Amino acid sequence: MTPAHLQIAIDGPAASGKTTVAHGLARNLHILYLDTGAMYRTLAFLALQTRTEADNEIALVHLWDAAGVKISLDAEAPLGFRIVAAGREIDEAILQSNQVTAVVSTIAAHPRVRDAMVRSQREIALQGPVVMAGRDIGTVVLPSAQVKIFLTASVEARVARRRAQLQEAGVDVSVHQLSQEIEERDRLDRERAASPLVPAPDAHVIDSSAMTADEVIAEIERVVALARA
Ligand code: DC
Repeated sequence: MTPAHLQIAIDGPAASGKTTVAHGLARNLHILYLDTGAMYRTLAFLALQTRTEADNEIALVHLWDAAGVKISLDAEAPLGFRIVAAGREIDEAILQSNQVTAVVSTIAAHPRVRDAMVRSQREIALQGPVVMAGRDIGTVVLPSAQVKIFLTASVEARVARRRAQLQEAGVDVSVHQLSQEIEERDRLDRERAASPLVPAPDAHVIDSSAMTADEVIAEIERVVALARA
């Protein structure tokens, strides 16, 4: 069934530029935006804080339920949305910390964790026209989305982008280390049994290796215009 509001699903592997593109697109179209990776990362942060093991599926689901996580879609917020959990706002520094990045793929592989996230993501999508970025948005979360994009880029391009981002934040990580991290996360996301990272059959696949974020956004805007016509 066609959703009541415009839904744009943007999926793809780590560091493919999903969040930059999804956030920019939402701004251009004046619609809501959520990076669902931030939800898995918030749970990873809560797990680290409470010393909950990344392989304890039941404890992780309880932790998420007990933390009273509040997600509001707010174009004025730096991320384009706000997440408050355990009484504090979860900012970019928390979400992108190395400790969080190191455990998040393990946490995101648990089916019951995913069920809890998907339920809440579907409720959020009822609020209005939305761009949602993640790994399973077009396949599982919003399978009836009018626009589905699968954004890829070569490992080399993704490493270069992530390295530039980190350098801007004053962190220097070697190309070798970043390639290993990205390839390991790709492997975990693609090989997990629950909602593995795959393009939806009706997704538009965009290889952004040689494209700027603005070029990718313009290309998606063309797909959106066609879907609305
Ligand atoms: O996009 P990201 O790097 O912030 O995602 C963090 C982790 O969460 C990554 O290992 C994949 C997982 N994830 C997921 O499984 N499903 C989503 N919809 C979003 C993220």
